[in-house]
This record gives sequence, C-alpha cells and structure tokens, in this order.
Amino acid sequence: MSDVRRVIIVGIPGVGKTTIIRKIKHILNSKSLNTDYVVFGSVMMEEANKIGVKDRDDMRKLPISQQRKLQVVASSKIAEKRPDILLIDTHLFIKTKDGYWPGLPQDVVSELKPNNIILIEATPAEILRRRASDTTRRRDSVGEKDVLEELDIAKNMLSTLAVLTGATIMCAPNFDGKADDVALKIVSALGVK
Ligand code: AP5
Repeated sequence: MSDVRRVIIVGIPGVGKTTIIRKIKHILNSKSLNTDYVVFGSVMMEEANKIGVKDRDDMRKLPISQQRKLQVVASSKIAEKRPDILLIDTHLFIKTKDGYWPGLPQDVVSELKPNNIILIEATPAEILRRRASDTTRRRDSVGEKDVLEELDIAKNMLSTLAVLTGATIMCAPNFDGKADDVALKIVSALGVK
C-alpha cells in the first residue's frame, strides 16, 4: 500500500472543483502538511502538446484511442508524485462525441490508488452560470436537463469506484458563496486536525 494519501476530487465541468481544491491545499499547507495538487487534464495536455493539440477543450474531441493513451501516460506520471497528501483534480467521465467516456477506468484507478474520492456538486443553474462566466474555456452548449443527466451519471460512477478501489467516497455540495465552508468540511472529513 502506498504511503502517499491520494485524494481524488471530481465534478462535472464548472462545478467549482478547482476552486475548492485550491482552498483545501491552502488549508493543508497552513497546517504544515506536505500537500501537492495536480490537475489530471494539465498533465494530459503536456502530452497532447507533443501531438499538436493546442487547447485543452480539444482533447475531448480526439479519437478515444488517442485520449486513452494520454490518460494512461498521465496516470503513470501522477502516480510517481510522492508528497504526504496528493490532491488530484480530474473527471469521473468525459463527454465525447462518442458518448460518456470514463475518466477513471479500472487501470487508471489501480495506478492512482486513491484513499478518498470526493464528488463536488452544485445545482444545474449554478453550474451553467459558472460555465458561462468562464470565458477562457470553450464549453459545449447545454441546458439544465443535460446537466442533471451529467450529475446523475457522476453519482453512479462514484459508487462504482468505491467498490472497485475500496476508497471512501463523499459528495460535497458547493453552493454559491459556500466554497470556503466546503473546503473546511472536506478537510475535516479527511481527518486532518
Ligand atoms: P479540467 O481542466 O479539469 O477542466 P474542467 O472540468 O472544465 O474544469 P474547470 O477547472 O474549468 O472547472 P471546475 O469545475 O474546476 O470549476 P472552477 O473551480 O474553475 O479538464 C480539462 C480536460 O482534461 C477535460 O475536458 C478532459 O479532456 C481532460 N481530462 C481531465 N481528466 C481526465 C481523465 N481522468 N481522463 C481523461 N481525460 C481527462 O469554477 C468555475 C467558476 O465557478 C469560477 O468562476 C469560480 O470562481 C466559480 N465558483 C466556484 N465555486 C463557487 C462558489 N461556491 N460560489 C460562487 N462561485 C463559485
């Protein structure tokens, strides 16, 4: 068993997972815990750059076979990191043109060996508003019904991962204006004093 505590934080795009993870890292570092934070999509992007992909929103449009190669390389690189606590920002699934594709299939979670998997949630209206406010990204145009479907699939995949990995799972609602409270609640659930 690995001595690194690996905490995977997932959530559908725009739910606020990056915001929450940054706050968690800040709290853990303030307690002098050696905490590292890695964005799975950024590690994939380093590899994708080598095959000419320029924008992270183009990765999910690549053929699944190519995304799969990038995914496997990223999981191996992330598994090499050895802080005391590793926060991993990633996705339960990617919405591709071929359908929903798992971001954490069995071989990837076997590599990452998570101790905890935390799903960040918010209401469909909040998620859509947050996606719209981020002008740096090229999001797919969807409505509340689609977001509800994504939230539903996320919960199903989360339960499956608990059974596959033995990691604890937790759902953390990130309602408007509550990001600090959510981060504190997660730190407390991790058993960090
Ligand atoms: P990634 O980089 O993770 O992109 P993303 O999901 O679009 O994530 P974002 O960081 O944009 O959204 P977020 O939910 O973190 O929201 P944020 O905190 O910014 O992934 C990029 C790509 O990598 C994927 O598309 C895929 O191709 C690939 N990838 C990744 N993992 C993979 C895997 N395992 N396998 C295969 N491919 C993979 O917040 C959004 C906004 O909301 C901000 O303006 C923020 O200020 C605001 N906000 C947040 N919380 C609150 C709050 N409580 N109140 C008010 N406003 C709030």
